[in-house]
Amino acid sequence: MGVVPANTLLRIRSAPQTQSQARGGCPSHPGWCGREREYPGRVLIDILSIFPEAVEPYLAASIVGRARRRGIADITVIDPRQWAGGRHKTIDDRPFGGGPGMVIAAPPVAACLDYVRTRSAQPRLLMTSPQGRRFDQGWARELAATPHVAILCGHYEGIDERIAEWYKPELVSVGDMVLSGGELAALIITDAVVRLLPGALGNGESAVAETDLAAGAYDHPCYTRPRDFRGLHVPEELCSGDHQRIAAWREQARQQRAEANG
Ligand SMILES: C[S@@+](CC[C@H](N)C(=O)[O-])C[C@H]1O[C@@H](n2cnc3c(N)ncnc32)[C@H](O)[C@@H]1O
Repeated sequence: MGVVPANTLLRIRSAPQTQSQARGGCPSHPGWCGREREYPGRVLIDILSIFPEAVEPYLAASIVGRARRRGIADITVIDPRQWAGGRHKTIDDRPFGGGPGMVIAAPPVAACLDYVRTRSAQPRLLMTSPQGRRFDQGWARELAATPHVAILCGHYEGIDERIAEWYKPELVSVGDMVLSGGELAALIITDAVVRLLPGALGNGESAVAETDLAAGAYDHPCYTRPRDFRGLHVPEELCSGDHQRIAAWREQARQQRAEANG
C-alpha cells in the first residue's frame, strides 16, 4: 500500500463546510451535514482528477450540490498530483516508444488509488476511457446502490496502462467521441447516480421515470409560461386542467418522439 502524504486529508477538497460541521458534527464523515441518518441510501463517490478545479463548480451547484449539503451524497475530489514527487509535482511524462502527447505516470496514481481503497471496505473502481463500456441508466442505478464508487479520470494521452493491469478498473465511456479528459465523463456519471439517491430530487423534480428511460422510452415535451411565444402556442390540452387529457396528450407525444427516433 502506498504512503499517504501526512497532510493528505487537509489537502483533499471536499464539500464546503456546513453549519453542522462547524458545530463539530460527524467528524468521521467530513463533508456531511448531520442529517445523514435521514438518508440511509447515501453513497460515497470519489473523483480522482488532476484538474479538480474543472470538477468542483459543477459539484457545488444545483441538485448535486444540494445532495452533498444534505448529506445524501458524500463526494470528494482527490488530486493524484498530491502523491507526485518533486518540487513541481509533475505527474505526466513522455510516452515510451515516442509519439505525441504526455502520459500520466503510474506511481502517483497508484498511491492515490491505494489511499482511496482505505476509505471503505470495497470501493468500486471505474476508469473513464473512450474504449470503455457505454454508460447508461442501468449502470447508474447499479452505482446508486453501491456504497463507495471511485472514478479515475485520465487526461492527455491517458494513464500508464499498468494502472489498468494492476487495479483492473471497469472502463467506462460516455459516448463515441474523444474528450480531452475524464472530468466531464466523471461528472456525467456522478450526476446520473446522485439524482437516483433517495431524497436527492425535490417533489417537483422527478421529471422522468428512470425505469422508462432505461427501457429506451422518451419523455414528453415540456412548456412553461408564457402561453404564447413568438406565435408558438402551448398545446391546449396542457392548459385544460383536465388530468386525463393531459396524461393522454403526454403519452401520445412520447410515442411520437419514440417513432421519430426510430
Ligand atoms: C484524449 S483522451 C485519451 C485518448 C487515448 N488515446 C485513449 O484512447 O484512451 C484523455 C482522457 O479523456 C477521457 N476520455 C476521453 N474520451 C472519453 C469518453 N468518450 N468517455 C470517457 N472518458 C473519455 C479518458 O479518461 C482519457 O484517458
